[in-house]
Amino acid sequence: MKIKSSSEFVLLACLVAFCAVGVCQGGSLRKNFYEKSCPNAEEIIKNATWKHVTTNQELPAKLLRIHFHDCFVRGCDASILINSTTSNSAEKDAIPNLSLSGFDVLEEIKAELEKKCPGIVSCADILSLAARDSVSFQFKKPMWEVLTGRRDGRVSLQSEVLPNIPSPFHNFTLLKQFFEKNGLTVHDLVVLSGGHTIGIGHCNLFSNRLYNFTGKGDQDPSLNPAYAQILKSKCRSLTDTTTTVPMDPDSDLDFDSDYYVILNQNKGMFQSDAALLTNKGARNIVNELTNQTKFFTEFAQSMKRMGNIGVVTGSSGEIRKKCGIIN
Ligand code: HEM
Ligand SMILES: *[C@@H]1O[C@H](CO)[C@@H](O)[C@H](O)[C@H]1NC(C)=O
Ligand SMILES: *[C@@H]1O[C@H](CO)[C@@H](O)[C@H](O)[C@H]1NC(C)=O
Ligand SMILES: *[C@@H]1O[C@H](CO)[C@@H](O)[C@H](O)[C@H]1NC(C)=O
Ligand SMILES: *[C@@H]1O[C@H](CO)[C@@H](O)[C@H](O)[C@H]1NC(C)=O
Ligand SMILES: *[C@@H]1O[C@H](CO)[C@@H](O)[C@H](O)[C@H]1NC(C)=O
Ligand SMILES: *[C@@H]1O[C@H](CO)[C@@H](O)[C@H](O)[C@H]1NC(C)=O
Repeated sequence: MKIKSSSEFVLLACLVAFCAVGVCQGGSLRKNFYEKSCPNAEEIIKNATWKHVTTNQELPAKLLRIHFHDCFVRGCDASILINSTTSNSAEKDAIPNLSLSGFDVLEEIKAELEKKCPGIVSCADILSLAARDSVSFQFKKPMWEVLTGRRDGRVSLQSEVLPNIPSPFHNFTLLKQFFEKNGLTVHDLVVLSGGHTIGIGHCNLFSNRLYNFTGKGDQDPSLNPAYAQILKSKCRSLTDTTTTVPMDPDSDLDFDSDYYVILNQNKGMFQSDAALLTNKGARNIVNELTNQTKFFTEFAQSMKRMGNIGVVTGSSGEIRKKCGIIN
């Protein structure tokens, strides 16, 4: 590279200095990292994921949420996939834990890759790609770019989940803080909450809004009353911990911008969804994202940023042999 001016030199020197202290660590992810070492890796992952989605329409929601939880705890290092052992309670067993169907599929894809290119493709990349591919199945084209080259972490602690995963009971201030801790903005918060256009939630995570919002047997006044009636017919009491309800009532299997449309009708299911309307800046973003074209463009960009959180690269970490077990 030719350096044309002293200001360019200063810029370059700054970049080098930043990288030395690890700030630009995520910069080492790149397009098609396995191009030489396992040329078909991305296609194998896509084919296997699509095959599973044809028989399991709920899989995109499962994988997208697992990917989010992975990235928010210790970075996108597949620490969420580790099984607990007699001496360690892993992330997977924390209270906001995730349904099983996704883990089996990821382990199956990993086994296929181990047969074709042993020791090459990380579980962290498999999860990032499979989450993207599962959501993309509906469109038959990739909905966001996934850079690769992540390696797998060697630590997974149940105790790190609650302090890092936002709660459905959080207000706007707390949600903002949890995202900022990961280098994500309010814009990312609103855009990524759009992930709730697919999937389900358990009654006990919002039934306080239906039955006992302030401890006086009351309803959350910020929840659409007609919608509250519908939710009450499904979640019959405060103690129901097993019933699940679609978060986007009319199209919980379609990845679309309906989340923002219903949110504006005060039909966001969790307090954390409704909280996005309590801040003026966030409310403006919600309005903008009711436009599906805009939502898809913004979601692609925010997912790329989320997929870059705390990635392990170079010679750190490991390439796990099985996603559920540290080598
Ligand atoms: C903003 C903070 C967030 C909070 C408080 C939150 C909370 C929750 C909760 C409580 C559930 C229901 C879990 C259950 O009852 O089984 C859920 C489901 C889900 N979340 Fe989030 N979430 C947040 C952000 C995100 C992000 C950033 C994504 C991905 C981009 C995401 C994707 C999903 C998906 C796809 C589901 C459905 C899972 C399924 O159907 O099994 N969420 N979320
Ligand atoms: C993936 O699926 C396509 C379409 O079925 C097929 O043509 C291709 O060979 C598959 N690729 C791999 C690597 O299995
Ligand atoms: C969720 O955690 C509970 C205990 O905290 C455990 O019994 C259960 O197996 C976990 N579920 C998954 C999917 O790991
Ligand atoms: C948000 O919730 C936290 C914890 O409950 C509380 O301390 C804080 O005052 C709340 N912020 C707002 C603006 O309501
Ligand atoms: C509603 O909340 C109040 C205050 O927390 C509590 O005393 C009461 O038992 C709750 N009601 C029900 C039905 O759980
Ligand atoms: C949605 O956003 C796109 C891209 O910015 C724009 O071209 C289109 O006109 C918008 N549609 C509506 C209905 O506003
Ligand atoms: C992890 O635990 C689950 C549930 O107990 C089990 O089905 C799975 O085979 C385990 N994974 C590995 C790699 O041992």
